[in-house]
Amino acid sequence: MRTQVVIVGAGPAGLLLSHLLGLEGIDSVLLERQTPEYVQARIRAGILEAGTVELLRDTGLGDRLDAEGMEHRGIHLQWPGNRHHLDFVDLTGRSVTVYGQTEVTKDLMAAREKAGRPAFYSASEVELHDVTGSPFVTFVDGDGHAQRIDADVVVGCDGFHGPSRDFVPRQQVWERAYPFAWLGVLADVAPSTDELIYAWHPDGFAMHSMRSPHVSRFYLQVAPDEDIARWSDDRIWTALSERLGVPGWTLHTGPITEKSVLPMRSFVTTPMRHGNLYLAGDAAHIVPPTGAKGLNLAVADVALLSTALTASFQGDDDLVDAYSETALRRVWRCTHFSWWMTSMLHRHGDDFDAQLQLSQLQRTVTSEAAATELANNYAGLPL
Ligand code: FAD
Ligand code: DHB
Repeated sequence: MRTQVVIVGAGPAGLLLSHLLGLEGIDSVLLERQTPEYVQARIRAGILEAGTVELLRDTGLGDRLDAEGMEHRGIHLQWPGNRHHLDFVDLTGRSVTVYGQTEVTKDLMAAREKAGRPAFYSASEVELHDVTGSPFVTFVDGDGHAQRIDADVVVGCDGFHGPSRDFVPRQQVWERAYPFAWLGVLADVAPSTDELIYAWHPDGFAMHSMRSPHVSRFYLQVAPDEDIARWSDDRIWTALSERLGVPGWTLHTGPITEKSVLPMRSFVTTPMRHGNLYLAGDAAHIVPPTGAKGLNLAVADVALLSTALTASFQGDDDLVDAYSETALRRVWRCTHFSWWMTSMLHRHGDDFDAQLQLSQLQRTVTSEAAATELANNYAGLPL
């Protein structure tokens, strides 16, 4: 089989890239190790930047997003006895939208099926060949048949654990492991807040997010090697009430439908291109989740790459030649913002560190310049 672009990985980066290339008349084939049901059900990110929402709308993916997405003007920043609302719309003119990664993935899968773009799910033994010459990819399909696809370009959208990154000779890798993790909780209960709450607390960070008017999402700072068996539903609700509580506010509880421990790290590898192989999304970089950048950064990479590849197929290589450098400017901005939000809000270090964090939080809610800086980064830089 032959195509113009083989895309390894059908997470949000791979699915969106295939959609954007399709709109430009460029053929692609998606290879995914998991089943479609598995990919659709993975509970991950929940917040879309203004630019991500615009891109999805402009490319025909706005119907359900507009009907079911919840537009938020900003967030609440909190520490004991204090809850302050930062209004991004007042500060920057831009908002964010609550719409789960599960829903973005479903919309993209539906668009792929409607357009009849080919995909191989349950693909195993994916290997890349001759990426600096005439690339091809070999794999075993879901029925156990060996397959080969020849292409002009291969794009690795296969996440942090995928194989593509190993085919790019590394210039440099930067990594930071954080001394804590998140316990993520999904519950069938109406949110107890209008907009997200990010809370600093002496026992550790807590966050109240949501997925719909009937489903709430919560995160609690825990140890990196936390044993989830130690977190009964009762213990989770007690910790959330304590860490998120302010006088006069009540946390509503309900059945917990999912809980898991998420490690937190920063990771950047360069370059993001080697010959005819490109990396996009988590395959090239990871940010800790505080600030909700991971999914949005993957979207920004593929928006840039689809424009660059389109120009390249028309004979102009300037944008593909600049892809790695251009993408990495945004990657490092988001890496800094995610590190900064993480460092400000999680308990680590000693009491001196705690006082610095509280001072930074106070400054962020009282200085318009500081609040605007957070708002610009959170609502997202233009694509
Ligand atoms: P992925 O979504 O990881 O997709 C990569 C795809 O490649 C997967 O479908 C995988 O199955 C496939 N693949 C891997 N290996 C192979 C192979 N050998 N062959 C073929 N296919 C392969 N971000 C936030 O902003 N907020 C959050 O709350 C949040 N929570 C998260 C929770 C978890 C557990 C994780 C892992 C990430 C979370 N993120 C969150 C980050 C966000 O989900 C990612 O940044 C986003 O999914 C990146 O999209 P992607 O398409 O680049 O990678
Ligand atoms: C969510 C995750 C985040 O990391 C974040 O900063 C905001 C919201 C979420 O899963 O809803």
